[in-house]
Amino acid sequence: MAKINIIYWSGTGNTEKMAELILEGIKSKGIDAEMKSVSEATIEDVLSSEALALGCPSMGSEELEEGEMQPFIESIEDKISGKKLALFGSYGWGDGLWMREWEDRMKDNGADLIQDGLIINGFPESDEDESSCIELGKKLVNS
Ligand SMILES: Cc1cc2nc3c(=O)[nH]c(=O)nc-3n(C[C@H](O)[C@H](O)[C@H](O)COP(=O)(O)O)c2cc1C
Repeated sequence: MAKINIIYWSGTGNTEKMAELILEGIKSKGIDAEMKSVSEATIEDVLSSEALALGCPSMGSEELEEGEMQPFIESIEDKISGKKLALFGSYGWGDGLWMREWEDRMKDNGADLIQDGLIINGFPESDEDESSCIELGKKLVNS
């Protein structure tokens, strides 16, 4: 059975809600997955996953959150070659630059991105927002 992990950082809960919806999509396919805040995640969670979702909002000035997520990403960069990966995160006023740069960084390290990074403005409350997260979860199962 595929082992899928979702690892995320969220300050005010918007990216966390995206993670919950992605988990819902995975579970709807009869597959179990683990969802962990990056503060609880280990490199082993990355190594042991057949498919991985990483979530972080746009922070700083179009950057990954620097206290926990940025160091975690640095620590896994040389371990994700060939890994099936989905990126997601919430943003506020920008145009998604942080996500485009994050995608490029993961691709440069050989990750196999299953689709473009999923970005949602603020909290995922519309039906469209919710279903884009749920569909991402389903796609992780089928990847
Ligand atoms: C310190 C800080 C910096 C931020 N910088 C950006 C930014 O550069 N671009 C942007 O689009 N949104 C920015 N935001 C807005 C957040 O990305 C947005 O509020 C997001 O929904 C937060 O997600 P979360 O609830 O998962 O923490 C920033 C928010 C904070 C608190």
